[in-house]
Amino acid sequence: MCGIFGYVGKQGNAAEIVFDGLKLLEYRGYDSWGIATKVKSQKSKVKNKLIVEKHVGKIADTDINSKFLTLNSNLSVGHTRWATHGGVTTTNAHPHLDCSSTIAAVHNGIVENFQELKEELTKKGHKFVSETDTEVIPHLVEENLKHEGFASSTRDSFNRLKGLNAIVVANAISKEIVSAKTGSPLVVGIGKNDEQFVASDASGIVGHTKKVIFLEDNQMVILGDRVKLIRLPDGKEIKPRFQTLDWKFEDTKKGKYKHFLLKEIYEQPHVIENIVFNYEQEAQKLAGLIKKAFGTFMLGCGTASHAALAGTYLFSRIAKKHINFSIGSEFNYLEDYLTKESLLIPISQSGETIDVVEPVEKAKKKGAKIAAIVNVLGSTLYRKADYKILLGAGVEKAVVGTKSFIAMISVLLLTAYALAKKEGTGKQILLYASDNLKKILQNKFINSIKRVAEDLKDKVHIYIIGRGLSYATALEATLKIKETSYIHAEGFAGGELKHGVIALIEKGTPCIVFAPNDETYDDIISNAEEVKARGGFIIGIGPRNNKVFERFLKTDDIGDATIIPQVVISQLLAYYLALEKGIKDPDKPRNLAKSVTVK
Ligand code: F6R
Repeated sequence: MCGIFGYVGKQGNAAEIVFDGLKLLEYRGYDSWGIATKVKSQKSKVKNKLIVEKHVGKIADTDINSKFLTLNSNLSVGHTRWATHGGVTTTNAHPHLDCSSTIAAVHNGIVENFQELKEELTKKGHKFVSETDTEVIPHLVEENLKHEGFASSTRDSFNRLKGLNAIVVANAISKEIVSAKTGSPLVVGIGKNDEQFVASDASGIVGHTKKVIFLEDNQMVILGDRVKLIRLPDGKEIKPRFQTLDWKFEDTKKGKYKHFLLKEIYEQPHVIENIVFNYEQEAQKLAGLIKKAFGTFMLGCGTASHAALAGTYLFSRIAKKHINFSIGSEFNYLEDYLTKESLLIPISQSGETIDVVEPVEKAKKKGAKIAAIVNVLGSTLYRKADYKILLGAGVEKAVVGTKSFIAMISVLLLTAYALAKKEGTGKQILLYASDNLKKILQNKFINSIKRVAEDLKDKVHIYIIGRGLSYATALEATLKIKETSYIHAEGFAGGELKHGVIALIEKGTPCIVFAPNDETYDDIISNAEEVKARGGFIIGIGPRNNKVFERFLKTDDIGDATIIPQVVISQLLAYYLALEKGIKDPDKPRNLAKSVTVK
């Protein structure tokens, strides 16, 4: 949550570089943004000061003062905010300054003890202007600077912060940027002519350099004359080990698509094929770990939790193996029975979700093995895991997860087949699913989805029902509709309707029915009839039409992989519902952020 970008270099356009970097990180939070820059000038008024520009709203929508961007500057830090403490106002936007405007701080996380620090600093004469927790950071550094250098004063300040935090602090006098972290991610890069970058994730800097280090927790880095990596507890310098990213900058662009969301939906056949052709060994290794473990637990949040839930059905059906599942934030309260023989499979696009990272850390302390399935190389979960599978879905920029979900499902399905020693069958049905998606993504099919979106655009509620595997995907489909179109949508196990939910059905209530050609078909059709009998408007998604459906969107019949076209049809429906409702930027739904690093 929140995007951070810092730059030190000789190009003289530091503010502009940070501005462009923030645009690439905006998906991490878009309540407000701001940049602090050190101008090259001999005028005493600005000589040792940072100039700040801040705005409420998305960076792409701002009518920016172009003079600020052309300031002659070699050092700048910026931030795009997902608000936690203090409302969405220009004053609360980062960067925050000390009393002398020499020190600027940007921050990702929550300073849990900020009130006590603020009181202490106020008593010492520091003036606060915002309601944020972050503002204590530049004042703490300013206070410590009275008796030590910039790097050590930042280190001592950071050590006083409670909570999981990543901070980037700029100093106009020493012309350095010091960054430190305990929780949220930070990546440092070195570009041409010794340019130095720090950012919340590599997608922000990959256009400048592929030579990066992912900062570990309790490390600090000083950018200035050179990159200095420091161990936080004892302040010892350590040798930075740079790695080269295998990323294409073009992947971070929309290309011919109007939105990243649509682009990423269209990339899904390729994502599946990549897994089919390259992941057999990874799936076999993970299957081996599951076989050896005494108790395996999958965990994830939001979309990833739906993939994990689907995984429990896949392992049961295909490999006759019971695997537990919990949403990340609840696993904290379920970990008492973990042992050294347990295996945890955290599933996460970003690899940073704190609700997953935290229970993983606790499980590691109990000696459990961690096999992470993540999309982002170098992310926290990637680094903490004993064994890791990178999803290979490519950069996912839309806040709404699509291709990462399909990649998660594909990896889990292949692993279940590997456990059953039927990898060939797994690969074959995944290829069928990829072919089916190619048909769905053609104009004719898209038009039929658009017609359903027109039917649904004025509805207040949409219900989606499924059984078994299709229950997990019903939950995912409703999440896509909620996030993208802001229509209230709920997913239910078909069998649960009569236990209460059916009370919600009235004349015209839309109910989408996931009806694969499997043992759930007859029962889910009966549930659809029950809804229709009470006035419900039924939309069927599956391989077989039925007279109960008023609208029907056909998938191929691909056994357990039928969930893949089901979900992709729902992703498209959610996207076109958003357009029907006049939502301008479905890539960035209100109140959300891509990487959720606070609890
Ligand atoms: C919804 C969505 C979120 C994420 C969730 C976990 O479209 O993307 O629900 O799935 O915040 O994020 P990761 O997968 O990064 O752990």
